[in-house]
Amino acid sequence: MANPLWRTKPVSSPSSSSGLKRVLSAKQLIIMGVGIIIGAGLFSLTGVAAGQNAGPAITLSFIVAAIACGFAGLCYGELAGMIPSSGSAYSYAYASMGEFIAWIIGWDLVLEYTVAASAVASSWSGYVSSMLAGWGIVLDPRFLAPTMSVVKLADGSQAYAWVNAPAIVIISLVSALLMCGTKESTKINNFIVFIKLTVIALVYIFCIPHIKMSNFHPFIPTNTGIYGQFGLSGIMRAAGMAFFAYIGFDIISTTAQDSRNPARDLPIGIIGSLIICAIVYATFSLVLTGVVNYKELANDPSPVATAINTTGYVWLNTIIKLGICLGYTSVLFGLLLGQARVFLTMSNDGLLPKVFARLNKKTHTPWTSHIIFGVISSVLAATVPIGVLGNMTSIGTLLAFIIVCIGVPVLRWRHPNVPRRFKVPGGIIIPALGVVSCSAVIFSLDSLTWLRLIVWLVIGCIVYFFYGIRHSHLSR
Ligand code: ALA
Repeated sequence: MANPLWRTKPVSSPSSSSGLKRVLSAKQLIIMGVGIIIGAGLFSLTGVAAGQNAGPAITLSFIVAAIACGFAGLCYGELAGMIPSSGSAYSYAYASMGEFIAWIIGWDLVLEYTVAASAVASSWSGYVSSMLAGWGIVLDPRFLAPTMSVVKLADGSQAYAWVNAPAIVIISLVSALLMCGTKESTKINNFIVFIKLTVIALVYIFCIPHIKMSNFHPFIPTNTGIYGQFGLSGIMRAAGMAFFAYIGFDIISTTAQDSRNPARDLPIGIIGSLIICAIVYATFSLVLTGVVNYKELANDPSPVATAINTTGYVWLNTIIKLGICLGYTSVLFGLLLGQARVFLTMSNDGLLPKVFARLNKKTHTPWTSHIIFGVISSVLAATVPIGVLGNMTSIGTLLAFIIVCIGVPVLRWRHPNVPRRFKVPGGIIIPALGVVSCSAVIFSLDSLTWLRLIVWLVIGCIVYFFYGIRHSHLSR
């Protein structure tokens, strides 16, 4: 008998029997993609990365990251059109590289989505507390930061934080929304994306007239002598950080069983949203660093508010912050939706207990999964610093991207005749460039992040060898 670790799933098998409702069109997938991609990366990270690493050349960092994500995006497009399954990279690996690699990547995706949701919720907490403070509602700082981090109290003394409470609130709210049903939550999500795009448009309208050309000199500040602090290395370090900003296009592929015509619409959704967001990131960062000198943004978690203050339209700040706070929820929406969909597919394949595939009879959503991962995400957001969460998200994402890029040539070799609605042009050049660029970034991440990933994967292996390998439907 063949080794169970390497058994593969037939390419055409999954998808139709999930019980999820097919309600999403190509347009809705693009809107969803934009909604998931644009979040903390644009509204928080841009300023810090410009101030600490790249200067005004942060625009180039976003373009570099977009090209690297574009390689992976094209590969996702080909595989999503060919294997329209909610399992995303997990399902592609299952068809191309065998059950064990698929398990590893599914387990890794759960890390990516859960931890990314925690990171975004943590950043949301910062924006919402600053907005409330603007309205005169000052919350106790000990309830606004991860457990044991040092915060400054109203009397000037320092104390350890207890818990990041707003992060728990927002994750609970979005999880509850998702449990209400995909169609219903998609309508609300579309509205939120509209608000987010309005905020971006307002920033362009009010800030562009205030751009000072002097802020673009030097466009690429000279390196300080330390790797990553300006110069070319600074642009590359900021490009690594910008990966977080692009996370989300991959999540579209997890809606294969919610979309009306997945083979056609998934590639459109993935590539379309990636192109739109690359344009927004590159131009938005140009506007921000044109209005505010990059040196002033180094430690600024809300660079958009700073830019608006510089223009003198201070009244606009409340509207912008409100829009940003609302806008973050669509990022959380996509991340928590993707997470539950991957676990649902793994559970349908027998690799995880049935509870993760159980759908609510009325809403047709995997509500148990939403509850379990809502709780886990909340605990992480409430207790772990955002920097750690951001790095964990990046390493999980990059690993998935690498596997997807490898999956394209492997599937072309193993299943050359399966129809592909979209085919990455240029043979294996683009998948190879995807592997090289994602590997360059993943190996630049610190050793502690690697250690955490390894611990997570070891736990995953234990679950697989004690449960998944024996319950896999392929073992029947
Ligand atoms: N790309 C998402 C964000 O920037 C995760 O918030």
